[in-house]
Amino acid sequence: MIMPTLVQASRSPQVTIIGAGNVGGTLAHRIAESNLANVVLCDIVQGKPQGIALDLMQASAIAKVDRQIVGTNDYADTKNSDVIVLTAGLPRKEGMSRNDLLRINASIVKDVVSKAIAQSPNAILIVVTNPLDVMTYLAWQVSGFPTHQVVGMAGVLDAARFQTFIAMELGISSADINAMVLGGHGDLMVPLPRLSTVNSVPITELINKDAIDRIVERTRNGGAEIVKLMQNGSAYFAPSAAAYSMVEAVLSDRHRLFPAAAYLTGEYGLKDIFMGVPVQLGRQGVEKIIELQLTSDELAVLHASATSIQENINLL
Ligand code: APR
Repeated sequence: MIMPTLVQASRSPQVTIIGAGNVGGTLAHRIAESNLANVVLCDIVQGKPQGIALDLMQASAIAKVDRQIVGTNDYADTKNSDVIVLTAGLPRKEGMSRNDLLRINASIVKDVVSKAIAQSPNAILIVVTNPLDVMTYLAWQVSGFPTHQVVGMAGVLDAARFQTFIAMELGISSADINAMVLGGHGDLMVPLPRLSTVNSVPITELINKDAIDRIVERTRNGGAEIVKLMQNGSAYFAPSAAAYSMVEAVLSDRHRLFPAAAYLTGEYGLKDIFMGVPVQLGRQGVEKIIELQLTSDELAVLHASATSIQENINLL
């Protein structure tokens, strides 16, 4: 008699999202519907993550995907996650800078990181909570993780905003545009027109300087522009799309090159700080930091951005 061979099913990857708000909920939707991983949504508000998870499971039934989406207030349910995405915290309201959020979100980040990493000590931790660079530094400190295991999501979002405005200016598809934005996720971010291209053609060949300056300024204020328009909330579709691309790069071990907040140990003349730089992202998290040759002007703006982050780290 031929005995059936038992094939051990490989474990599905699991992503924990702390904070089942707008960014967390839309990120869970993307992860489940693209069939990337199971999702645990964890929030402090009773019922909220459970309700959103149930809604998303019902959406999955229509989308014909079978990923598990669990909503919980109990960190025990997040055990053994491969990736933790931190979106818990207050979003920015009109007139509030990201730095205004610092004190409130710092206490939330301290609380949730220690609980989450106790359940998943090997997870890659992706921070989305603002002020991004400072919260990423704090999350790393609280976690005690090696630096490659912690990364902040901002550069992908800022570059997407830059790409969108370049596409709008030229009247062409944003699919053909690659943009690079370094520095902190704030008013001092450093969009790099020199290194931003339309299918390899530098935008400096296609757009005049005044228009580029205008686009750079609009990119720097990209989050605030949306806060002002929405009046009672902040962006979440693009932030969750940006976080998704990082989660996917990690789980699929794709070694993708993204601008993201990484821990610097002398690169760009900076150390003991998390700030947006080009990184290679894969299953181990930040595999490499790419050090670009910047002009003295670009480097000066990058250092000004770092100074502002450092001042806020000092407030922690
Ligand atoms: N533990 C768990 N969840 C928490 C905690 C906590 N201590 N404190 C707040 N939350 C949850 C809230 O209950 C809410 O569901 O975090 C969620 C935040 O969701 P939203 O208010 O909708 O904010 P969102 O737009 O998703 O932004 C979240 O990402 O882009 C950043 O600036 C943004 O810092 C903000 C974060």
